[in-house]
Amino acid sequence: MKRILIPGGAGYIGSHVVLSVLLTRRYKVTVIDNYHNSFPTAIERVEKIARDELPADATQEQKDACKIDVIKGDLRDRDTFSKAFSQYKGQKDEIYAVILVAALKAVGESGEIPIDYYDVNICGLVNLLRAMKEAQVWRLIYSSSATVYGTPKTIPIPETSPLQAESVYGRTKQMSEIMIKDVCDAHTDFRAISLRYFNPAGAHPSGLIGEDPVGKPGNLLPLLSQMAVGKYRDPGLRVNGNDYPTPDGTCVRDYIHVMDLAGGHVNALDAIDSDARFQNLPSRGKYRAFNLGRGQGMSVLNMIEAMRKVTGWAYPYEIIGRRPGDVPDLTADPTLAEKELGFKAKHGLDEMARDLWNWQSKNPKGYNP
Ligand code: NAD
Ligand code: WQD
Repeated sequence: MKRILIPGGAGYIGSHVVLSVLLTRRYKVTVIDNYHNSFPTAIERVEKIARDELPADATQEQKDACKIDVIKGDLRDRDTFSKAFSQYKGQKDEIYAVILVAALKAVGESGEIPIDYYDVNICGLVNLLRAMKEAQVWRLIYSSSATVYGTPKTIPIPETSPLQAESVYGRTKQMSEIMIKDVCDAHTDFRAISLRYFNPAGAHPSGLIGEDPVGKPGNLLPLLSQMAVGKYRDPGLRVNGNDYPTPDGTCVRDYIHVMDLAGGHVNALDAIDSDARFQNLPSRGKYRAFNLGRGQGMSVLNMIEAMRKVTGWAYPYEIIGRRPGDVPDLTADPTLAEKELGFKAKHGLDEMARDLWNWQSKNPKGYNP
């Protein structure tokens, strides 16, 4: 079996990506994480789900592959990646591809500690790219973000929209895409796919893994789910503006179930070896970027209502002023990923809310009670 290296595999999205890769029963996984924003328990639980969902006729190799190799390490340490690649070199389960999920990701914080953001998100990527080239590991799937579009001119947003990120965090994602493309242009053995995530939501339906942010969540959905278990109810929910040019005046986002999003990485792994996916491109490098969204915009009030239905909590709220940096609408045009990766999100809003609540109610204190 081939092996996939997943830096950041203990995090919210990473743990679901690791699980989706394991559930193909075609790959082994090694995670690199420094647990800056995650817990080892997430990895143990992914192993459990992967074992629990083994088919009755699973081979011994498939059973063994439920065990995830974990390297506690930091992207900023140049040796972390080279050691990981050399550990498996020449073996049957040599590392075949990397899915880089690890990053610092809070928009507000990125403006306060930009050097840390550039260090982890940019220097960490340089370390990875150099180690990949040296080890001749030629396939990379990269966690990008809809935030690279800044305030887009057209909705739904096609991949051809200009990249004009408006925060330090967003610029690290935009710069990373540029760097990866440049490397693919220069070293034509490289193949890379950036996946621009829209707003991930929900959790694996087992309720064993999910999002566990440190402190009071800044993002809407984790805040709503934590309020329903009794946290952060004072001073209550604040809706940031209802005077946007959207149907109900609140901001619209393209929420996508995290298991759908994670499945998109398997689509990308399947596509990355296909020469057809890298033909007739404007530059010679084998680099592509795809939106991962549903193409359906949901407002803040839609999300509050969806969570109210599953949690039973009333969510009294007040409307306050706009949050600086918010854009009215970020809805993906998902057609390119469907056509070229065969990616299509299966879960709707009610399932996202149900699975988020299932995770939160079973783990009111997250991974670390
Ligand atoms: P997360 O914080 O839950 O996961 C990131 C993981 O990376 C964590 O396990 C963290 O410990 C690890 N990490 C951070 N710095 C590290 C370092 N220096 N060395 C090693 N490991 C390190 O975040 P997430 O929501 O799962 O996001 C995953 C990726 O998806 C990120 O690249 C993020 O930019 C991108 N993304 C997230 C969202 C979102 O809304 N969550 C949207 C678009 C894109
Ligand atoms: C959604 C809407 C808020 C909290 C962020 C990053 C983005 C990406 C995903 C990584 C907005 C409103 C929120 C609250 C509110 N991350 N809101 N009251 O801003 O779309 O995206 O996470 O790449 O880069 O910016 O998500 O959940 O923070 O906000 O009214 O208490 O909910 O103003 O309109 P956002 P969010």
